[in-house]
Amino acid sequence: MASKPTTAGIKLPMPIWDLPVRLFHWLLPILMITSYVSVKSDRMDIHVLSGYAVATLLIFRIVWGFIGSDTARFTFFLKSPLAALRHLAHFPRREPDTQVGHNEAGGWMVLGLLGLLVIQAATGLCANDDGETEGPLVKFVGKSLSDQLSKIHDINFKLVMIAVTLHILAVIAYAVVKRHDLVRPMVTGRKRLPAATPAPRMVHPILGLIVLAAAAAIMFVVVKIL
Ligand code: HEM
Repeated sequence: MASKPTTAGIKLPMPIWDLPVRLFHWLLPILMITSYVSVKSDRMDIHVLSGYAVATLLIFRIVWGFIGSDTARFTFFLKSPLAALRHLAHFPRREPDTQVGHNEAGGWMVLGLLGLLVIQAATGLCANDDGETEGPLVKFVGKSLSDQLSKIHDINFKLVMIAVTLHILAVIAYAVVKRHDLVRPMVTGRKRLPAATPAPRMVHPILGLIVLAAAAAIMFVVVKIL
């Protein structure tokens, strides 16, 4: 008797990262390099603009974390710390990649990276360099608090760099230890997953564009109107 065809073992490409999340992700390193190089070469005009762009992206990403595609949502990828530890405990095991979105530990990494970047952008808006450059919120916080926030802006950048290094090392570790390629899906948006995997709900990228425009409008008010 002929056996019934089954989908077990079949892998199909499935959309897991929407375009707004991917653009957000790859624009971040570009802007962070721009921010670093500009401050080191005394081009504070570029540094300030790059900072506004990072702040706009972060406002976008936080809103997208509530109304975006399933895999972008905080409620989808934030699991209990215990679940994260359990995930890390079987890290050395080589097993097929069936993950839709961030894994239990990766979710906390995302929260940490976003948190540090929010501190970086927010302190930048309140910072001054004892020269011609000051953030648009300095007039609200006053010089003395602005001086302290400028120091935090400086120290926090080092923390961001450490977190980004750990993030990249984690991606490399997944490739080497588990043979999981996390980078390709963050570029193409798609991942080959077992055919029976329930597909995440994806939101149309046009909504992402609307949220980005609203985030840019908020930054315009902060920079030019307040
Ligand atoms: C300034 C540098 C970087 C920052 C600040 C950063 C930050 C982030 C953030 C916030 C996420 C979560 C994305 C989201 O849900 O919106 C993420 C995910 C990810 N990043 Fe980065 N990233 C950086 C550089 C890189 C680089 C250079 C690579 C490639 C080696 C990379 C590979 C990935 C991958 C593969 C994911 C998805 C991980 C998963 O599958 O759970 N990142 N990154």
